[in-house]
Formats: sequence, structure tokens, C-alpha cells
Amino acid sequence: MIHFMAFYFIQIFGMLAHHKLHYTITVENAKVYNDSWASIDSRPLPIWYDEAKLGIFLHWGVFSVPSFGASPAWGWYYWKVSGWQSWKDYMANNFKPKFSYADFAKDFSTEFYEPDDWADLFAASGARYMALTSKHHEGYCTYPTNVSWNWNSRDVGPHRDLVGELAHSIRSRTSMHFGLYHSLYEWFNPLYIQDKANKFQTNAFVKEKTLPELYEIVNAYKPDLIWSDGQWEAPSWYWNSTVFLSWLYNESPVKDTVVTNDRWGSDTLCKHGGYLTCNDRFNPKTHVPDKKWENAMTLNKGSWSWRRDTDISQFLTLKELLSTFIETISCGGNMLMNVGPTKEGTISPIFGERLQDFGAWMSVNGEAVYGSKPWRMVQDTMDSNVRYT
Ligand SMILES: *[C@@H]1O[C@H](CO)[C@@H](O)[C@H](O)[C@H]1NC(C)=O
Ligand SMILES: *[C@@H]1O[C@H](CO)[C@@H](O)[C@H](O)[C@H]1NC(C)=O
Ligand SMILES: *[C@@H]1O[C@H](CO)[C@@H](O)[C@H](O)[C@H]1NC(C)=O
Repeated sequence: MIHFMAFYFIQIFGMLAHHKLHYTITVENAKVYNDSWASIDSRPLPIWYDEAKLGIFLHWGVFSVPSFGASPAWGWYYWKVSGWQSWKDYMANNFKPKFSYADFAKDFSTEFYEPDDWADLFAASGARYMALTSKHHEGYCTYPTNVSWNWNSRDVGPHRDLVGELAHSIRSRTSMHFGLYHSLYEWFNPLYIQDKANKFQTNAFVKEKTLPELYEIVNAYKPDLIWSDGQWEAPSWYWNSTVFLSWLYNESPVKDTVVTNDRWGSDTLCKHGGYLTCNDRFNPKTHVPDKKWENAMTLNKGSWSWRRDTDISQFLTLKELLSTFIETISCGGNMLMNVGPTKEGTISPIFGERLQDFGAWMSVNGEAVYGSKPWRMVQDTMDSNVRYT
């Protein structure tokens, strides 16, 4: 409503002004986005994003407590829905029979969390932006909120604002852009389960949970990136995604700087929104996609969050990281390199070493990286591994 009124006001004002002063207003200067995908998709991506090339992704939450098995961020789901034997055995062998996933939260201690040190490490890697999980599919919020009662970092576990503290450190110590990951869906939220049972003809979960969180993280932390996820079970009209995005682009405190991805509904992946992520570790290699894209990948091959039962073979080498990065930027992408912090709030030295080594390479080669554009050819027909930037 407000958008339309503002639009008409500009039109009327423009007409009056034109009549009296021979003065015209170009609507482009005050472009207003409506809640159609055509309109949302027409917004130019703020240029900082393409120039940045490298970002750091962080998966941190209650799943960092069990931190066990393949992809622990999905552990609750593997245990309760998929019924993986390894999870059933781990729980049966180590915990009392009534132990629930929620009981892990009190051990999300973060007592060694030093966001200043994290910020310095990320900046040293050469990354120019980052994204931290504000909420993953388990539903736990890593910031204080009233819409996730007793399932947020103020009420249980850290008793700290993990998001706010990192936002402050990133902004006060580095020139990186601060971003947040947010999952639209939650596996076990009763409101979501009810909406799903109603074939998404009701949207109580979106109204009472997802949207309030999205507005809250934007207003409270002013992120320059919203890395949306967990969109796949329901279409974007259920999530009210374009309603939120039109607010984000027209009125929010980050309307001129914010960048978003393409995970806003089962109909949007690789198609609508800000830049494309398509699938995890997206890397087209042989062509330059029509739209700006990102290769979201993880330094620990099989896992997005910390695993206690990991070993050195699981970590990509510096050489592997650099060839993935060069492939990515040569085809016009950015690389979002993921790190999994521990429940104590530390970043394992293996991640630290990789980031520092990456940064040493960037300090020599950064001039040919930041702000670069793909060349007119991306592949040498004689050697499939040679590409030009
Ligand atoms: C929304 O914007 C699109 C693209 O600019 C336009 O085609 C469409 O008519 C607009 N819809 C409304 C209801 O204004
Ligand atoms: C959350 O609830 C507390 C206690 O009722 C209240 O003091 C606080 O203002 C609320 N915060 C927000 C952001 O609504
Ligand atoms: C959100 O989407 C639902 C359909 O799922 C629709 O009924 C509702 O009007 C939408 N809300 C807004 C604010 O557009």
C-alpha cells in the first residue's frame, strides 16, 4: 500500500512539477519493486558483491554440540526421520534413553568465543564478505529473539548474542560485508508441520516465525547478505518471499547494499532472487551463467559444521581450494568457503591454517582477483583444465 502511494505521489508530483517548472522526474532513480518475481529479479545486484569474489560461510548452532558423523547439521533429522543406525547407536551408547536433541543446547557453551579473533582470521584469508547461520533447520536462533521461545542463544546455551557480537567485530575491525544465513523451514516446528499437513494452504508458521525472524535480523543486524535456505518443500507464495524481498529492496535499512541468493521457494532455485547458488558446490566450469552466481562449498569435504570425528583426509588442500576458486571466478562466480566452529567457540587450527595460507596467496594475486571479469572464452579446447580469467 505504502509503495503504491509513494509511486502515485511521485507521478502526481512529477506531473505538477512538469506543468509548472518543465521538470521531469525519472522513475528509475526511485525504482520501487513490487511483489512479482519479474520486479524482484529486475533489481541490479549491488556491485560490491561481484567485486568481492571470496566469502566465508559459518555453520554454527546446537548441531555443533554433538558434532558427530557425516553432516552433523542434519544430525537431528538423520536420527529422528531418516533413522540412521549410526545416529541411533551413538545416542543409545552415550546418552540416557530420554535424552532429547534439545538437551544438547545447554552444552552449546561458547566460552572461548572471541569474535575479534574470528574477524581478524576471516579478513586475513582475503575474504570480503561472510555469512553466519542465524538459524539452521533445527530452528535454534543464534541471537536473542522472542519468536523462538527458549530456543535461542539468550535463553539457552551461550546466554550471548552470537550474531550481534560478530557483526560488531567484523564492522569495527575489517572492511568485510557482514551477512546472515537463515533457514525458511524447520524440521520439527509444530506450526510448520501443521501447515505442511494442510498442503501449505495455511501459513501460520510463516506469519508467526519465518517472517518475524527475517524482519528482525534485518532491522537488528543490518546484514549486507541474506543467504536464504530450507525453501524446497513449499512454493515461494507460501513463504511470502516476494513480499519480504520487496520490503527489503524498497524500505529496509539495507535496501541499497543488501544482496540475496536464489533460495526463496521450491520454484526459485537457480532462477529467481539475487544471485544464483543452484546446488551446493555449484561450479559450471565450462560456461559463464547468465546471472551472477556463487559456489557455496565447504573446506571440510563432507560437512558444513564441525565434526569431532574428523581427520586430515577430510580437508581440502590449499591446492584444491585454489583450483576451485580459480575455476569459479573464471566463470563469473564467487566462492563462499565454509568453516565449522566448535561448540566452545573456537575455530580449529586446520581451518585457521587453510585460511591464512589462502590469504598469503591472495596478498600476491588479489590484484588479479578482486573486481575481475570473465574473459570472452572460459575454456581451452586443448586442455579442459585450462581456463582464462
Ligand atoms: C510489477 O512489476 C512488474 C515488472 O516491473 C510489472 O510488469 C507488473 O505490472 C507490476 N505489477 C503491479 C501489480 O504493479
Ligand atoms: C522480548 O520479551 C522481553 C520480555 O517480555 C521484553 O522485555 C523485550 O522487549 C522483548 N523484545 C522484543 C524485541 O520484542
Ligand atoms: C502470504 O501468503 C499467503 C498465502 O500463503 C497469503 O494468503 C497472504 O496474504 C500473504 N501475505 C502477504 C502479507 O502478502
